[in-house]
Parts: sequence; structure tokens; C-alpha cells
Amino acid sequence: MNNQIEERKVDHIRVCLEENVQAQRKTTGFEDIFLVHKALPEIERKQIGLSTVVFKHEFSAPLLVGAMTGGTEKASKINAAIAEAVEELGLGMGVGSQRVAIEDPRLEGSFAIAREKAPTAFLVANIGGAQLVDGYGAKEAKRAVKILKANALAIHLNPLQEVVQPEGETNYSGVIDKIGEITRALEVPVIVKETGAGIATEEAKKLEEAGVAGIDVAGVGGTSWAAVEFHRAKRTRDKFRQRLGQTFWDWGIPTAPSLVEVARSVHIPVIASGGIRFGTEAAKSLALGASLVSMTAPILKATTKGPEEVKQTLQFVIEELRNTMFLVGAESVLKLQEKPVVLTGKTAEWLRMRGFKPELYARRKA
Ligand SMILES: Cc1cc2nc3c(=O)[nH]c(=O)nc-3n(C[C@H](O)[C@H](O)[C@H](O)COP(=O)(O)O)c2cc1C
Repeated sequence: MNNQIEERKVDHIRVCLEENVQAQRKTTGFEDIFLVHKALPEIERKQIGLSTVVFKHEFSAPLLVGAMTGGTEKASKINAAIAEAVEELGLGMGVGSQRVAIEDPRLEGSFAIAREKAPTAFLVANIGGAQLVDGYGAKEAKRAVKILKANALAIHLNPLQEVVQPEGETNYSGVIDKIGEITRALEVPVIVKETGAGIATEEAKKLEEAGVAGIDVAGVGGTSWAAVEFHRAKRTRDKFRQRLGQTFWDWGIPTAPSLVEVARSVHIPVIASGGIRFGTEAAKSLALGASLVSMTAPILKATTKGPEEVKQTLQFVIEELRNTMFLVGAESVLKLQEKPVVLTGKTAEWLRMRGFKPELYARRKA
């Protein structure tokens, strides 16, 4: 059982590094979103502050590295490289699903290394929603947090991946009640995250009611798990799974509309993710109501060159974010969150059809 999960994890990293697993026919929707340029920014770029307090933790900039891996030797190196970089930059990171280490304590080190390398960064433990239905409870959730000395626990939802992979766990009945149990049992905040298919307003409200402390939308536009499974199926010449992977490649809610749906429906912090690659997109996310922004695939690529490359990739995004803030005259993250945003095209159409009023963002006082 464990070997099977470990092999799958190795496969995921290999496929994500070697193949194109990004959304193909759909985009994040950020190309429909415009911040309003200010020819008179009336601020000094050097004095722009990016620090922000979320989940009672001070981040030097509103950036996280998304949940990715653990359980293997290679994963250990990846976690160490990310941890070193986020510690130096004062950011946060998630580790991949800790199921392997909960089932085999010998693998704990590949996750715990993140805390060794990042004693003060915001670290997010990770377990799967499907495992909660399958018997996991407070004990396993607490174990995941303890292994990492984590600041928060993420419960990931990946129904799309579960229906396109051969070993898929497709029983999600009662998952919301189990999530509620975990939020009541844990002392750290519980974040619920998708994995690339987005979250809608209906689910966001249920999650908030269940006591969840934060929601990471992880929408369509970046890494596609159907694509990852397509490539795995191609290798094993599994024709049906290849077809499923192709059919569902772009399934889900694009990141920008998902972010607005969630941010307008709940009062808890929202994390924007799914295909976010540039500081300009991070800035748009914050202006649309995100408290933090998370990126995964580009950071995986950077880890192949070591912690310095990870640090530089994150620094580029931070500098792009700072420049964007200068160009809209926002000297702090809080100010950026109040700036006008124009939503156009398919994203605006989606939101209108779903009962939201995109023009409210456009008419904010600059
Ligand atoms: C190699 C890889 C492994 C991942 N494993 C996990 C995981 O174990 N748990 C989880 O919550 N998300 C996992 N994710 C999903 C990411 O956290 C993120 O939601 C998704 O990749 C979308 O972000 P991106 O477009 O910036 O890559 C993984 C992503 C990648 C690329």
C-alpha cells in the first residue's frame, strides 16, 4: 500500500517536471482583470510595505509556496530547498499530503525537514479530504501537525484527480462533517484547499459554517491533475484513463472567478492560487479579496536548481508585486485590497450569471 503511494508521489513529481501539465483550453481568467493604472501614484516605491498579518502570523509578503510533496528522498530535498528560501524571505509553505508518513513513521523526516530548515516560517501540514471519509480523524490530523510543528493544517480536496486516476478514492460522502470535526479538535487553523479545479460560493459558505479558518481556491489555469493522470496513463498505455485525462484536462472553475465567488461569500481569509505566475496576478488577487497568494508548479521547477533559485523566483514575484502596487498607488497590502479593479469578458460574464456584481470592484474610490 505504502509503496504504491510512494511510487505515485515519485510519478507526480516526474510528470510535473517533464511534461506539460498546465491548463490548455482554459486560463485563470486574470487576463480579464485590470487594475487601474495611476499616472500620479503619489507614493515612494521604496516605502511600499508588503508585510501582512494572516492567521495571526506576520508574513514579510503575502506569498506562500503551495503544498507539493514529501515521503521520498527527492521530496525531502524539495521540501528543504523551499523551506530554506521561505525562511529567508519570511514567507510560508505547505508540504504535500502526509498520509505516507502517518502510515509509515519512518518517512516523517521528509516532511519534518521543512521545520528544521524553516524554524520561524508559516508551515502548513496537509491531509486529504478523501482520507477523512476513509477513516482518518482528529488523531491523524494532529499527527500531521505535530510532525511539522505546523502553524496550520490544510485539508485538500481533489475529487477531479480521484475520478481520473486508477487508484482513485471516490467516496466524498460526509466529508464536510468530518472537516467540521477536525476544525473543532485542532488548536491550529484549518485551511481547506482545492488542488486545481477551484471552489464555488456554495462550498465556501459550507466550509465557513463548518469552522474552517481559511480557504485556498486553487482554481483552473495552472497545474491540472487530469493532465498529470493523462501522462501517467500514457506511460502504462491505459487508453481509458488517457481519454479521461484529456476530457477533464481543463475541468473546474478558473482561478479569478473562483476567487471572487469565495471572497464575496465568506469572512475568513482566502488564499488565491491556481496558475498564478507573476506579481501582477498576485496584485490582482489581493485587490479581488485574497489575503495571501500561493504558487506551486513554478517553485517545483526552481527546486531542481536549489534553494537560491527558489528564493530568486519568489523575489521576482515580490518585486513585480511591489511595482504593481506602485503603479496603482498602494503603499500597503491593505491599501491594494481597496483599489478599483475592472472585471471584463468571460470572468465578468461568469460572475454576473452567478449573481455577483463585478461593477462594485470597478467603482471603488481609488
Ligand atoms: C507535484 C505536485 C504535487 C502536489 N501535491 C499536493 C498535495 O499532496 N496536497 C495538496 O494539497 N496539493 C498538492 N498539489 C497541488 C498544489 O498545492 C496546487 O493546489 C496546484 O498545483 C495549483 O497551483 P499551481 O497552478 O501554482 O501549480 C500538488 C501540486 C504539484 C505540482
